[in-house]
Amino acid sequence: MNRCLATLLLIFTTCALKAQVVDFSKLPLLQGETLKDNKGAAINAHGAGILFHNGVYYLYGEIKKGKTWLVPGQSWEDYRVPAGGISCYSSRDLVSWKYEGIALAPSTGNGSSDIDTGRVIERPKVIYNAVTKQFVMWMHIDTRDYAFARAGVAVSNSPTGPFVYRGSIRPNGQMARDMTVFKDDDGKAYLIYSSENNATMQVCLLSTDYLSPTTRYSRILVNRSREAPAMFKYGKKYFLITSACTGWSPNQATYAVAERPLGPWKEFGNPCRGTDADKTFYAQSTYVLPVDAAKGQYLFLADKWNKLDLERSTYTWLPLQMTADGPVIPAKLRASAPLR
Ligand code: DGJ
Repeated sequence: MNRCLATLLLIFTTCALKAQVVDFSKLPLLQGETLKDNKGAAINAHGAGILFHNGVYYLYGEIKKGKTWLVPGQSWEDYRVPAGGISCYSSRDLVSWKYEGIALAPSTGNGSSDIDTGRVIERPKVIYNAVTKQFVMWMHIDTRDYAFARAGVAVSNSPTGPFVYRGSIRPNGQMARDMTVFKDDDGKAYLIYSSENNATMQVCLLSTDYLSPTTRYSRILVNRSREAPAMFKYGKKYFLITSACTGWSPNQATYAVAERPLGPWKEFGNPCRGTDADKTFYAQSTYVLPVDAAKGQYLFLADKWNKLDLERSTYTWLPLQMTADGPVIPAKLRASAPLR
C-alpha cells in the first residue's frame, strides 16, 4: 500500500471510530439487576468506571468475592469483603461484555501492602494518556477502618492490563476516599475525591502524565458530606453527580454544575425521577458515560449494594438525558422504549 493510501485509511478509521455512537434506545437498562458476560458468568465489577478507547468500551470494577463481615469497633456500618482486585470487561455495544481478566491483582498475606486482600480497593477509574500512551488507573485505597484514606495509582500499556501498582498518596496532604477521574477535551485530567473526613470534596489537577496530583486543587461542595462522585461534561459545562454519606445504605443523589472542573461548583437537586428517586432507586452513583454527548445522552452507572452480602450487590444502569432543567435519570423504562 502506498503512503498516501495508508494515510487516508488511517484518517478514515480514526473518524469512523470517533463517530461511533451506540444507539441510546438500545442501551442495557438495569435497576438492581445482575449483569452477565458473553459466557453467562455474572459480571463482578462494582464501583465501576468505563473507558472508551479505539471503538471499545472497557469496564473496570471492584471484584467483591467472599464472605461479608462487619469490622468490629466501628460506629458505622463497616461491612467488608476481601479486596479482590480490579476486573476488566470489554464491549463494542455496551450490551455484550467479554471478560478480560483481572486488570489489577491484589496481593495476599502482606498486610503492609496497599493492595492486600485485607485492605480496601474501591472505585477504580481508568483514563488514557495520549502522550505517554499509558493507561492510568486511580482508585481509593484504604485500611479496613477507612482511616488510611488515600488515592492509589496503577499503570499499564494495555487497556486490559495487567496494571502495575505504583503506590498511594494523600493529594496535597488531603484525605482521599470515594473518587473518580475526569479527562477533559484539552487532555487535562482531574482527580475528584471525598476529603476532609468526607465533609468536603476536592478536585485536583493531575500532572501531564496523569500519575500524580499537582498542587492545583480546590475544595468543592464544602461541608456537604458528599461521596460517590461521577463527573461528565455537556457542552461547555461540567456536571457532578454525588450521593450523601450513609455507608452502604442508599440516599438521595444531587447534581452540581461548574464552568471549569476546579469550580466554583453550584449544587442543585436530585436528577432521579420516578419511584424511589429519593433513594437513587436504592443505588449509589459510580460513573456517567457519554453515549451521544452532542444530544445530551449519557448512561448513568450505579451500585445497588447488598451490605450483608457484598458479593451479591447488583447494578443500576439508567439513561441520563440532559434537559433544559438539567440532567434527568428516569426509573427503568421498557428496554425497547425510546427516550423522549
Ligand atoms: C460508600 C462508598 O461509596 C463505597 O464505595 C464504600 O466505601 C462504602 N461507603 C463503605 O461503607
